[in-house]
Amino acid sequence: MFHPQGPTFWELVVQGLSSTERGYDLLAPKFDYTPFRTPAPVLQALGRVLQDLGPFQAGLDVCCGTGAGLEVLRPLCTERVVGLDISRGMLTVARQRMARAPGASEVTLVRGDALEMPFREEFDVALCLGAFGHILPRDEVRLVDSVARALKPGGRFVFVTADPPPIWSPLALLARLFNLVMRIRNLMIRPPFVMYYLTFLLPRARKLLLERGFEVEALWGLFPRPFSRGCVVLARLPEARNPAGNT
Ligand SMILES: C[S@@+](CC[C@H](N)C(=O)[O-])C[C@H]1O[C@@H](n2cnc3c(N)ncnc32)[C@H](O)[C@@H]1O
Repeated sequence: MFHPQGPTFWELVVQGLSSTERGYDLLAPKFDYTPFRTPAPVLQALGRVLQDLGPFQAGLDVCCGTGAGLEVLRPLCTERVVGLDISRGMLTVARQRMARAPGASEVTLVRGDALEMPFREEFDVALCLGAFGHILPRDEVRLVDSVARALKPGGRFVFVTADPPPIWSPLALLARLFNLVMRIRNLMIRPPFVMYYLTFLLPRARKLLLERGFEVEALWGLFPRPFSRGCVVLARLPEARNPAGNT
């Protein structure tokens, strides 16, 4: 549908009728030929931002998929990089990619839920790319908490988001139509495939991160068209934790 080696329309339909986890297991071998993978120009710009902030001892890619972010992170980490994802199929492809990825730091791939990551103050930086659509708005606080627990004091949560598009713009209308179809699908078919657009946009992300004690900075103008609506968010935990923020 998107590329000769990518999934067909019907394969996407079958995946969309599966659970989120199973859908990604099915899509995994062809995922890199879809526009759902974080595109190269975005990864390159992000790599430059991370290079200015690094080097890091340890980095985490939350919802790492087939390893797009891990590949950027590894050369910037001196000790280890960890990729976490809920889909075994995606992790299998990530393992193959990371076997030939640049950098010398140790690579660990963990199957797990981003909302309940098993890490405590272990990482200097955590990325999350292209995955906020799989987190329901009611779970976003849990995601922020899970990332905050995984970061060392002073650690950074780095991700890409955007401002909300104008409410009647074609982009907003298309996204709302897609979300409506997914809501109907998820009302009628179990288990759900959680995938919604326009989630964790900058105003909401900033609010949740500030409430959790992060300092938040948004960097604009880094991506070429057609990605120029996006910004990189650098959210930093304080060096010394506020006892109220500890969990
Ligand atoms: C669109 S892909 C993005 C992959 C990669 N970060 C990238 O930018 O190319 C979304 C990924 O999120 C994973 N995912 C969805 N919900 C998750 C959850 N609750 N916990 C961990 N991973 C999750 C999926 O399995 C999938 O690999």
